[in-house]
Amino acid sequence: MSAPRTAPSRLVLDTAFGVGTVQPRLYGSFVEHLGRCVYTGIYEPGHSAAGADGLRQDVLALIRELGVTTVRYPGGNFVSGYRWEDTVGPREQRPVRLDLAWRSTETNEFGLGEFMDFCAETGTEPMMAVNLGTRGVEDAVRLLEYCNHAAGTELSDRRIAHGGKEPYGIRMWCLGNEMDGAWQIGHKTAEEYGRLAAETARAMRMIQPDLELVACGSSGSGMDTFAAWESTVLEHTYDLVDYVSLHAYYEEIDGDRDSFLASAVDMEHFIESVVATCDHVRARLKREKRINLSFDEWNVWYQKRPNPHHVEDWQQAPRLLEDVYTVTDAVVFGSLLITLLRHADRVTSASLAQLVNVIAPIMTEPGGAAWRQTTFFPFAQASRYGRGRVLRVEADSPTYATARFGEVPLLHSTAVTDDGTGAVTVFAVNRDRAAALPLEIDLRGTDAHTLVEHLVLADTDPDAGNSLEHPERVAPRPATGTTVSGGVLRTELEPMSWNMIRLTPRRTDAP
Ligand code: AHR
Repeated sequence: MSAPRTAPSRLVLDTAFGVGTVQPRLYGSFVEHLGRCVYTGIYEPGHSAAGADGLRQDVLALIRELGVTTVRYPGGNFVSGYRWEDTVGPREQRPVRLDLAWRSTETNEFGLGEFMDFCAETGTEPMMAVNLGTRGVEDAVRLLEYCNHAAGTELSDRRIAHGGKEPYGIRMWCLGNEMDGAWQIGHKTAEEYGRLAAETARAMRMIQPDLELVACGSSGSGMDTFAAWESTVLEHTYDLVDYVSLHAYYEEIDGDRDSFLASAVDMEHFIESVVATCDHVRARLKREKRINLSFDEWNVWYQKRPNPHHVEDWQQAPRLLEDVYTVTDAVVFGSLLITLLRHADRVTSASLAQLVNVIAPIMTEPGGAAWRQTTFFPFAQASRYGRGRVLRVEADSPTYATARFGEVPLLHSTAVTDDGTGAVTVFAVNRDRAAALPLEIDLRGTDAHTLVEHLVLADTDPDAGNSLEHPERVAPRPATGTTVSGGVLRTELEPMSWNMIRLTPRRTDAP
């Protein structure tokens, strides 16, 4: 995998060739009532950093730094048993319930109103899901009326009585979650779900025609029903929804790190297959409208690893899915982000699953500190600087052999330009575990010839990560030796690294 390089890998950037504009919702995340995402994650009354509303201000500050735009809520698998009316009104009257999805106990202390407060405090847009598992059309319209109708009906007045004077104005709604999965409460066939999603969407639009609705796609491209599911569901819902969802999680299997580093190959194939399926239905139905993609669950998730924490059934806020991420995971994660950006024309919404403690970029200790995992950094950098228009980068890279995906380029990259300022940001991953990757970037098709910074995330220990004891063990740092001359940037990407290279137009006062 680390044969000596005879020629540098090469990228050509030209602002004349764009893929599409990055939609802010690409940098969404996900809060589910699962494990400690909510309780002792974002919400912990009595914690020294908690405000009067119980929200942990130390965690909220990290969420703002992460640059999250939308937050999907309340699940996930949890939503298929969700009883929203249990979660509103005076706390002391809210019932304690069994959460069947995660075999936990839900106290409903944190509910819909608290979630809206959380969104207001973090400056994020809520992306709500309705329960199409145990419930259906009537419940979805009742929830929508409670949330978005101004006043004068029993449900809207109930919200006002609960403290929500102004309507919540929630625009984006998921029609259920992973309804193709046998593990889902109320699992359905594509026909059953397609009909239910269509009727739910139709009724919701009777209240508010300008909603943006997401139909459930497959819970993974490995599902037996994948693609046929999307096709059938869209036959029923095409005119009524705006998005179809995609979910994908990646992990290193049997020590095959080379394949793991190439996970984005699978993600790219998944996206292209769903785009093709949407457009096939569009052609069959003879429609103008295009369905976009909501990649509303994506991440690295070690599903095959046993939980290191002892968890009993029906515990409150148990330690579930508390994956600790390494530098290797962050490089793969960055590569997944690059893939989303490279498809920004059709992937117009995405949610990193999840936000705090549960397969999350932010971890907390009950009564203790909050810290950034390794995956925090690529997301925060992309959310901050990966705004504008994605360029169609032409890359020339050596390849390496993988067991799962065959020959894969060592360089994985994308570039985003801000058309207002002319600034260009390049995101690049070197998948080579052993060798640096010399890289030349031809900038002559851009005005951005002044290097602002080149930050790298890499480590001599590929398994290094952050923890309660060592919260700052891993962080991005400036790369050395990157130069620009004659419209060409020259650098060496460190072995197994995530990189962000920022450039601006030549300064007019420069000699
Ligand atoms: O994000 C964790 C779980 O993964 C979600 O609840 C579910 O939708 C998916 O299977």
